[in-house]
Amino acid sequence: MQSGYVNRWIGKDLKFIWHPYTQMKDCRKTPLILIEKAKGAKLYDDQGNFYYDTISSWWCNIHGHNHPKIKKAIKKQLDSFEHVLFAGFTHKPAILLAEKLVSIAPKNLTKVFFSDNGSTSVEVALKMSFQYWQNTGKTKKTRFISLHHGYHGDTIGAMSVSGVNIFNEIFSPMFFSSFKVPSPYCYRCPMGKNRPACKIDCIKPLEKLLEKIAEACAAIIIEPLVLAAGGMIIYPKEYLSKVADLAKRYNVHLIVDEVATGFGRTGKMFACDHVDIRPDFMCLSKGITSGYLAFAATLTTHKIYEAFYDDFEKKKTFYHGHTFTGNPVASSCALASLRIFEEEDTLNRIKDLILFFHEGLEKFRGLPLVGDVRHLGMIGALELVKNKYTKETFGFKERVGFKIYKEGLKRNLVLRPLGNIIYLFLPLCVKKKELEYILENTYRLIKSAKF
Ligand SMILES: Cc1ncc(COP(=O)(O)O)c(C=O)c1O
Repeated sequence: MQSGYVNRWIGKDLKFIWHPYTQMKDCRKTPLILIEKAKGAKLYDDQGNFYYDTISSWWCNIHGHNHPKIKKAIKKQLDSFEHVLFAGFTHKPAILLAEKLVSIAPKNLTKVFFSDNGSTSVEVALKMSFQYWQNTGKTKKTRFISLHHGYHGDTIGAMSVSGVNIFNEIFSPMFFSSFKVPSPYCYRCPMGKNRPACKIDCIKPLEKLLEKIAEACAAIIIEPLVLAAGGMIIYPKEYLSKVADLAKRYNVHLIVDEVATGFGRTGKMFACDHVDIRPDFMCLSKGITSGYLAFAATLTTHKIYEAFYDDFEKKKTFYHGHTFTGNPVASSCALASLRIFEEEDTLNRIKDLILFFHEGLEKFRGLPLVGDVRHLGMIGALELVKNKYTKETFGFKERVGFKIYKEGLKRNLVLRPLGNIIYLFLPLCVKKKELEYILENTYRLIKSAKF
């Protein structure tokens, strides 16, 4: 294992760079890892070590690093032009990509608005929903509903509709106020019930809230099936169906944030595809370019688009945009990634792998530290607890996840935790042998961990 302080690059990094979600003081004891190359599911550092990218580089890598088809598409587009403003001008890569996205999204989503990261795709959905109601004369519909454990990004608007936790509570005075409802967190059921006898009673607080405030409500925003940053909470499909039904019944938009779950991660192209729902907005980013370039899209319906379509002086235009909106290189990259899904039959190919993965994860249930095991598609999570029977959690200061992360690196694993949740968010390219190694070593590590 490298020592960061003999490495002049790490010294330079620490001198000049401030890393995201990082207490920079930790980097003195846990040196940053200098990555020099990557291939498939593996990252290689400058000291000759490799690491399995078990969390897909913050959930974005899909087909693996250094994929020849994606690189080729990027290079080809660079030979034509790298970027052009996306107002007054357009280009084939964006047109083809929009057409492709519409063809794979839920049928009612027929319009694509591009941006450049997950948070902005959410901001776009919030602003479009808000303005839709203004443009159509329902001016009181201005508020949003979200889940306690939801996470939708780090910009102010996205934070305002996210759960308040240890990371963002400092900023909470800056948020606009929104309504929060309890999460369908089965392991720690907010209603004190158990599955499947519960009949999804955790939907009741949302129903009650809508009865009271639907007139003032623009939209409900939700991550479909997996509350990712909130702790990889995988919740019942019935809950999502019921949310969609309620949104329709109370005339409130449904925004599904598929930034983390989109593009095959849950075993289907979108998490929404597990359930027959018709959202009004779908937010996409991360895996859209297979994690190669920053890019995002917000999909919406023709009905919503039409409410903005009018003479210029009527002030119904959607005045929102980002410099790199619809970037042609990223669009070409996204198209290449979607072609790979077809050419390599990715979603069928991973079916057996997913079964193997889930079977492997179920074995963790026997470990004293593991309170809950959750999985969906290529996502798996282990909730570590102090006491399995009382479900008592480890405290923030105990840094259990961080200790596991450091041990993981010694075993070639990037087990970057979410508090006490250790999770695998695997690239779809991972091979069975690699997965075997990842599961076995994660198991051994957690079995031998002492806190
Ligand atoms: C569900 C979800 N929405 C939005 C975001 C924000 O995306 P970005 O970090 O690209 O702004 C994330 C990031 O993790 C996410 O998981």
